[in-house]
Amino acid sequence: MVKQWLTSLLLLLITSTALAAPPAQNTAGYAPGDPQVCLGCHGATGMKPAAGILTTPHGQKGHPDSPMNKQGCQSCHGPSAQHLSKYVNGKPAKPTVTFNGDATPVDVQNKTCLGCHENSARSHWDGSQHQFADVSCTNCHQVHTSPDPVLFKETQKEVCFNCHKDKRAQIHKTSAHPLVDNLMTCSSCHNPHGSPSEAMLGKGSVNETCFQCHAEKRGPFLWEHPPVQENCSNCHQPHGSVHTPMLT
Ligand code: HEC
Ligand code: HEC
Ligand code: HEC
Ligand code: HEC
Ligand code: HEC
Ligand code: HEC
Ligand code: HEC
Ligand code: HEC
Repeated sequence: MVKQWLTSLLLLLITSTALAAPPAQNTAGYAPGDPQVCLGCHGATGMKPAAGILTTPHGQKGHPDSPMNKQGCQSCHGPSAQHLSKYVNGKPAKPTVTFNGDATPVDVQNKTCLGCHENSARSHWDGSQHQFADVSCTNCHQVHTSPDPVLFKETQKEVCFNCHKDKRAQIHKTSAHPLVDNLMTCSSCHNPHGSPSEAMLGKGSVNETCFQCHAEKRGPFLWEHPPVQENCSNCHQPHGSVHTPMLT
């Protein structure tokens, strides 16, 4: 019995020394053995379960830029060796980057995501109203569970209504775009990651946004109406109105 215990202790020591020596791809500050070591405590059940991420695009190894081909969990949570070796007030020291509180400043959280996602769709994130208002990527995105509700027109609106409560009432007005029926959604007109146009519209201007679907209003017409050329929202409230057809 004692011999058996000694053997397992020895094994444990050997494994932990092996773990303490970081594999080649790990640089200083990273806990080794990620993700298996992390999942040892944060598995499918138990304390702060995190295994759900393995069923999402971020958990797949198929994509060359997947976190699982980089630093594993620490691609997002940052180099976190201290989380496994230090205690603060009886709890493990926090990982370097956490997203569900204000321990990590919002711009640091966002830079972590942008490290892999700063491409065309988000090229106007810096300077956007959301960036300016300290909205974080994870105020809209859920990465540990799949599917991510904000990516689907059936569920996206509810995410926006968390903060834009007035819009819920507007889309229920008598004359409105078919948002309630899920035939379109907020991102049919907006790029919530920012854009060079007013109100983070997906197209360069209000009119260009409308012409995507109302091409017949583009003209040229024999008798142009200057307020129409200027801005459709001079007369229309795009989120809904009590005056048919969506007049202000
Ligand atoms: C030995 C068990 C153990 C291992 C291994 C472990 N953790 Fe943790 N982790 C904990 C505990 C305990 C907490 C809760 C601490 C608290 O309540 O403040 C925690 C909390 C966290 C949190 C939430 C922190 C917060 O305040 O929001 C994250 C993120 C996290 N761990 C990531 C990781 C990552 C990444 C790894 C692998 C590098 C890892 N953990 C490995 C025990 C572990
Ligand atoms: C793509 C970035 C990303 C990767 C990769 C990632 N996480 Fe997270 N993690 C987050 C975000 C964002 C949150 C905040 C909550 C949420 O969005 O679900 C979070 C939250 C957590 C929490 C806190 C959960 C709670 O209940 O408070 C733990 C623990 C955690 N992650 C551990 C892990 C472990 C372990 C891995 C690797 C198996 C991992 N994370 C991989 C981004 C990531
Ligand atoms: C190490 C690189 C890396 C990091 C860091 C990272 N991602 Fe990703 N992300 C990816 C890859 C790779 C994909 C899959 C892309 C594909 O399949 O085309 C992806 C996909 C996504 C998707 C689309 C998911 C879907 O269901 O289609 C969203 C949304 C996303 N990431 C948000 C985030 C957020 C928010 C963070 C920060 C918490 C983050 N990512 C951090 C690499 C990363
Ligand atoms: C205000 C809500 C919101 C915020 C904040 C937000 N997103 Fe998104 N994100 C969306 C929506 C909505 C979509 C779906 C867009 C579409 O269908 O055109 C999306 C799509 C994505 C996608 C997948 C499709 C693509 O464009 O490649 C990625 C990756 C992504 N977001 C990353 C991020 C990152 C990184 C941040 C933080 C810098 C962030 N998002 C902040 C709402 C948001
Ligand atoms: C048919 C296109 C369209 C759709 C769909 C749409 N918007 Fe808009 N939104 C606009 C336009 C155009 C503006 C510019 C404001 C103006 O000139 O009246 C705007 C402005 C805004 C503004 C800033 C000004 C204001 O009215 O408060 C917010 C916030 C907003 N939209 C949120 C949303 C949300 C949330 C959704 C989904 C429920 C949504 N929008 C759906 C076209 C649209
Ligand atoms: C975490 C809260 C939060 C969430 C979630 C959120 N927003 Fe915002 N949004 C803000 C804040 C704060 C501002 C800047 C202040 C303002 O104008 O209300 C803003 C501004 C905007 C604006 C520009 C307003 C202007 O005055 O030009 C638009 C458009 C917008 N949001 C659309 C969306 C859409 C679409 C979604 C869902 C995909 C969404 N938001 C989700 C908080 C949020
Ligand atoms: C993604 C496509 C799309 C975009 C972009 C779009 N619309 Fe629409 N619009 C629709 C659809 C679909 C309907 C409903 C048509 C129907 O019921 O026959 C509609 C209906 C309308 C109506 C008639 C409403 C009624 O009660 O009869 C007006 C007015 C209108 N849109 C104005 C606008 C304006 C202004 C913009 C730009 C801010 C815009 N639309 C952008 C798809 C769009
Ligand atoms: C000067 C005010 C004004 C401006 C600006 C305006 N509209 Fe209208 N729009 C109206 C009025 C009034 C009606 C109702 C006409 C009717 O009932 O015959 C209408 C009706 C509509 C309708 C529904 C009926 C139809 O003809 O299909 C759509 C769609 C529409 N407008 C789109 C647009 C778009 C897109 C723009 C910007 C290019 C725009 N409107 C700019 C006043 C305006």
